[in-house]
Amino acid sequence: MASASSTIQAPKGTQDILPADSAKWQAIERTAREVATLYHFDEIRTPIFEHSELFHRGVGETTDIVSKETYTFNDRDNRSLTLRPEGTAGVVRAVIEAGLLNDQGARVKVFYLGPNFRYEKPQKGRYRQHHQFGVEAFGVAEGDQDAECILLQMDFYRRAGLKDLALRINSLGDAESKQRYRDALVQFLSPKQAKLSEDSQRRLGDNPLRILDSKDPRDVEAVQGAPPAAEYLSEASTTHFNRVRRLLESAAVPFSVDGTLVRGFDYYTGVVWEVTAGGLGAQNAVGGGGRYDKLVETLGGRATPGVGFGIGLERLLIALEAQQVAIAAEDRPLVWLVAHGDAAKDLNWTLMRELRAAGIRADMDMSGRSVKNQFKVAERANAAYCVIVGESELSSNSVTLKDLRQREQTSVPRDQLIAHLRRSA
Ligand code: HAM
Repeated sequence: MASASSTIQAPKGTQDILPADSAKWQAIERTAREVATLYHFDEIRTPIFEHSELFHRGVGETTDIVSKETYTFNDRDNRSLTLRPEGTAGVVRAVIEAGLLNDQGARVKVFYLGPNFRYEKPQKGRYRQHHQFGVEAFGVAEGDQDAECILLQMDFYRRAGLKDLALRINSLGDAESKQRYRDALVQFLSPKQAKLSEDSQRRLGDNPLRILDSKDPRDVEAVQGAPPAAEYLSEASTTHFNRVRRLLESAAVPFSVDGTLVRGFDYYTGVVWEVTAGGLGAQNAVGGGGRYDKLVETLGGRATPGVGFGIGLERLLIALEAQQVAIAAEDRPLVWLVAHGDAAKDLNWTLMRELRAAGIRADMDMSGRSVKNQFKVAERANAAYCVIVGESELSSNSVTLKDLRQREQTSVPRDQLIAHLRRSA
């Protein structure tokens, strides 16, 4: 039991984004919003918790993410709620609930930024709270929509400056193809059942595709030589997969086809993909996505195809740092107001309001520090300019403007301060 005076730490697997790091996050989020907007996706924000049933029905009872990793609790009215482990299910629930898919031929393209929660064993790049930039596109069954999502995703990494990327894609096919592939895998793996991990022995009965995704060395060994999904695709699924590949090729986006790529959710039905990046170690997936043509129906909506992806932002930032990519933070110069005496302080309040109203970042000391210490605080805050007001400036309606980078000082008429700063900043 912690004593009353001991400090409280953040829960295991969570991280604070402190002021020193917030510029990077803002830059990445700005890039995400910009690129999504260019591709004509609109922002959606859904709750961080949902009825638990949404994830049981949507993501799947037999997926590890739902069966082992959710944060589930009963609220005061005894309803079972779950912190969202991913973004897709909540978005699908929201667009159904808002009636956005009611019209025949409805097309909805949305993006989101926000935290997700999974009770995983924390390690580098794997946290209990992580953030994703994701998109979901509803209403187009053709491979063109998968391709647009993948192109957006790769464009985002490019704009963020990420290098050393690998895009792998696969198709599990429509429900019928997936069933055939499932049967083939069970047939292939059943003779090796005893050699599988305990988890995968169970999966053989309820979710055999997930065995391909297992990192347990016994499973990795057992799946060697397993048949690739492509061999079991229906004609329609093959045509779809070929269309996606052709569009990626014509956009000159490099990729490889990985016949054993499966992803951890039950909702995927057709093309799935994953992007890995150098500099991350074992948890090297910086994003993944796929098609889920049955999910809207499963969650009670009108049958509507869907496809999308999620990108882990913590992993993206780790990879960018490892690759020594400088993130372009917005750098608006800060003006620091320095006052000699109380009358000057009152005037500085007016100046500070005027500067801020004019869109210029401004701040000042508020705790009565000496002039010397006001300059110290300004330097510590990384201010670009000091605006100094004392007796003589008050009587001459001017201010002394000190450029802290150039180490220059000039006298500026008070009513010309904003124009002057705009010219030199
Ligand atoms: P996911 O592959 O589970 O897919 O997650 C997407 C990305 O989020 C991963 O590639 C990874 O970068 C990051 N991520 C996942 N879990 C963690 C974690 N514990 N710690 C740090 N980063 C993590 C989805 O969530 C799907 N909803 C993507 C999707 C959208 N598919 C279709 N639409």
